[in-house]
Amino acid sequence: MSGHGTALPMIARRSGPLTGRAEVPGDKSISHRALILGALSVGETKVTGLLEGQDVLDTAAAMRAFGAEVVRHGSGDWSVFGVGVGGFAEPEQVIDCGNSGTGVRLIMGCMATSPITATFTGDASLRKRPMGRVTDPLALFGARAFGRKGGRLPMTIVGAADPVPVRYVVPMPSAQVKSAVLLAGLNAPGQTVVIEKEPTRDHSERMLRGFGAELTVEDTAEGRVITLTGRPELRAQTVAVPRDPSSAAFPVCAALIVEGSDILVPGVSQNPTRNGLYTTLVEMGADIEFQNPREEGGEPVADLRVRFSALRGIEVPEVRAASMIDEYPVLSVVAAFAEGRTVMRGVKELRVKESDRIDAMARGLEACGVRVEEEEDVLIVHGMGAGGVPGGATCATHIDHRIAMSFLVLGLAAQKPVSIDDGSPIATSFPVFEALMAGLGASIARANK
Ligand code: S3P
Repeated sequence: MSGHGTALPMIARRSGPLTGRAEVPGDKSISHRALILGALSVGETKVTGLLEGQDVLDTAAAMRAFGAEVVRHGSGDWSVFGVGVGGFAEPEQVIDCGNSGTGVRLIMGCMATSPITATFTGDASLRKRPMGRVTDPLALFGARAFGRKGGRLPMTIVGAADPVPVRYVVPMPSAQVKSAVLLAGLNAPGQTVVIEKEPTRDHSERMLRGFGAELTVEDTAEGRVITLTGRPELRAQTVAVPRDPSSAAFPVCAALIVEGSDILVPGVSQNPTRNGLYTTLVEMGADIEFQNPREEGGEPVADLRVRFSALRGIEVPEVRAASMIDEYPVLSVVAAFAEGRTVMRGVKELRVKESDRIDAMARGLEACGVRVEEEEDVLIVHGMGAGGVPGGATCATHIDHRIAMSFLVLGLAAQKPVSIDDGSPIATSFPVFEALMAGLGASIARANK
């Protein structure tokens, strides 16, 4: 079933060599944060390269509902006129975050220390996902949450009128939870301290500093200790959003498994808290050149030249999990075309994403003739070598964009076509996926055409 309306069945067929240039859209994590921090600043924040996927558009609508002016000038080119820290107005309507866990959790954080009440909801996928991981630390600031059983949406947050700063050790590796606490800490007096035992994506820390907040990071025996001084005056910025390494993963992985391919994916963020997939692929024998390494918009970026490669299965180090958490679905597809087993451990967070991604990938890979072993925290794929995957199945996508794109990539190199029941969620993060893949020569079509 589709999250936003009618289901969109799609089919991918074995394709000739993929060639050309794949300009993937802006980073989703940075796009959400640019809109949110712009809304919490004084003045006009200008954003270029903003991802115009549905998740980010839902966050833009939410920022308007809290009183910011958000204007689109042209493709990826936006301005946000902020209301300042503590300046949020109470929304008149329910805030619908669609499919976006990042959107809803970050926005809950940034309204939780203002004396306002807001009700949040989302699509059928988001309404199944746990919000307690965010509302627990927000309660320490003095906010109250009233949701469905198990801390599910729809949920009302009553912001703290008199917030107190907190010290919080994040119990699971989650940049969303870390960021929600930091954003709440912005409107609490004194210092809010967040400690993460495993480092997760650091865009919030980088961008909060960039917008003028006082924030320090210290690596200690306890973990990464982040200290934020509350009630700063955030100053509007110009944000150039780099291209999303999580979206780039799809054309990159497709080129690695489709024989004869040779593509260029320019300007992809290589932030070390995000690039675990690329390190893993190189260890598997992938032919990837990282050309023109440089800094863009405060992030390290490179142009990736990627060629079809003979790959071998590996043990993916558990400590790398957070830096590639969104890429395990497409890695498990690549692993199916490698020689030998690929072992992915420490991946239980995948079970609470847009879908249970371990289950979704295991079932779809099995249906395509690939042997898979699965435990609560582990996924093992038995590779069948280049060209060795039978395919020929219809895979369920469970309102999950990354599951949808992963199985379409699989179909490009499988022996028989691979269908998905619903490709509509792809628009949440990668609205130009079909056109971009077609431009490389990939055979992906809407099944009813
Ligand atoms: C994100 C954090 C990650 C990631 C998500 C984006 C972010 O989620 O899976 O796609 O922008 O902070 P978790 O915090 O749940 O790991």
